[in-house]
Amino acid sequence: IRNLYLVRHGQTLYNQEGRIGGDSDLTPEGFEQAEALGRHFHGFSIPYVFTSTRKRSHQTAAPIRKGQTRCTVTALPDFDEINAGVCEHMRYEDIKNTLPEEYRSRQRDKYNYVYPGGEGYVTLKPRVDRGLKKALFLSGNAEALMIVGHQAINRMILSHFLFRRTEDVPYIYIPQDQYFHITSTQKKKLFEQIRFTG
Ligand code: F6P
Repeated sequence: IRNLYLVRHGQTLYNQEGRIGGDSDLTPEGFEQAEALGRHFHGFSIPYVFTSTRKRSHQTAAPIRKGQTRCTVTALPDFDEINAGVCEHMRYEDIKNTLPEEYRSRQRDKYNYVYPGGEGYVTLKPRVDRGLKKALFLSGNAEALMIVGHQAINRMILSHFLFRRTEDVPYIYIPQDQYFHITSTQKKKLFEQIRFTG
């Protein structure tokens, strides 16, 4: 690829409530963020967009897709957000109060911690690598591709291109009003973080 646009879905009901996981819809603000993204990318050529299988990812990609003349959108489960197992749908406060041992273990070593019945960054890595491989294969020699991912997923993808230290990966800031543009060729690696809202 020449250009990878890495976008996080817009704000969701769960984001607003501070709950993790699930499959909630975007909030009115989230839909506005998606529209702003669509406007921002109007006039760019993005022939391939990859989403997760979650509603928030589809809903964010829709206005971008609308602004393109030729654009294939593919949902890959490899880009679904980290599965928090027994902690899905909880707020961090709830985890701290009801499962304090789990909360503390994750704080001690966030990268290697694996949620009971779910995943951790360490187990997410092979899945995201697989997704990236598929996306790169499916987009062939295309000039640009976009991934509309999630917080933990986008951290993993960024670290893949930027070679971050593993212990820093779970703390990379992934805002919902900015996206990452990565240009990667044999000769150069350019990395920009771009705000798309007013
Ligand atoms: O809060 C949104 C979210 O995408 C959750 O679904 C997910 O569990 C979390 O972010 C991952 O971030 P962290 O690893 O910092 O908890």
